[in-house]
Amino acid sequence: MNKPKKINRRSFLALTGGAVVGITALGTLGRQQPAVEFNESSCGSASEIGDKILVAYASRCGSTGEVAEAIGQVLCESGVSADIRLVENVSDLSPYRAVIVGSAIRSNEWLPEAVEFVKMHREPLSRVPVAYFLTSLMVVQDTEETHRAAAACLDSMWKFMLYAASL
Ligand SMILES: Cc1cc2nc3c(=O)[nH]c(=O)nc-3n(C[C@H](O)[C@H](O)[C@H](O)COP(=O)(O)O)c2cc1C
Repeated sequence: MNKPKKINRRSFLALTGGAVVGITALGTLGRQQPAVEFNESSCGSASEIGDKILVAYASRCGSTGEVAEAIGQVLCESGVSADIRLVENVSDLSPYRAVIVGSAIRSNEWLPEAVEFVKMHREPLSRVPVAYFLTSLMVVQDTEETHRAAAACLDSMWKFMLYAASL
């Protein structure tokens, strides 16, 4: 019968070191997030300044951008011009006659950049019609309770806007 091969200390350290490096590299690869694409587009053919509608949104994983895009499409199909933008890429609201603000919900809160957007632009926002939407898992179960939670979330943004406009 073959005797088990003895392994010296140097080979043992080299083998275990290699295994640790390999496992760490696999762990790092496993944790890498796939690149997220955030939709930004424009549609329609507004000829006058101040004749467009802005759909501004905050997102982490992209689905809120898809909802924003769908809203923009409906607007443009009904003859309105629309810009769909990430909130952080909007600096001037003067081209818009109305604004729609959307955000993903995390830990029961709007994303901070959506709140920041409303704060920063509270003055121009107070002069045009503003609508809000959110994306969340709140209404995955279609119950009265989940609808109430989603309505409360929208209500918090609405109250915040009223507060900000009164400052
Ligand atoms: C870390 C994390 C926290 C979340 N917290 C909530 C939450 O508190 N309430 C909720 O209804 N949905 C929550 N969600 C679900 C997201 O709001 C939902 O998936 C949303 O569509 C994500 O939008 P996005 O793809 O644009 O980032 C959470 C998701 C993640 C990943």
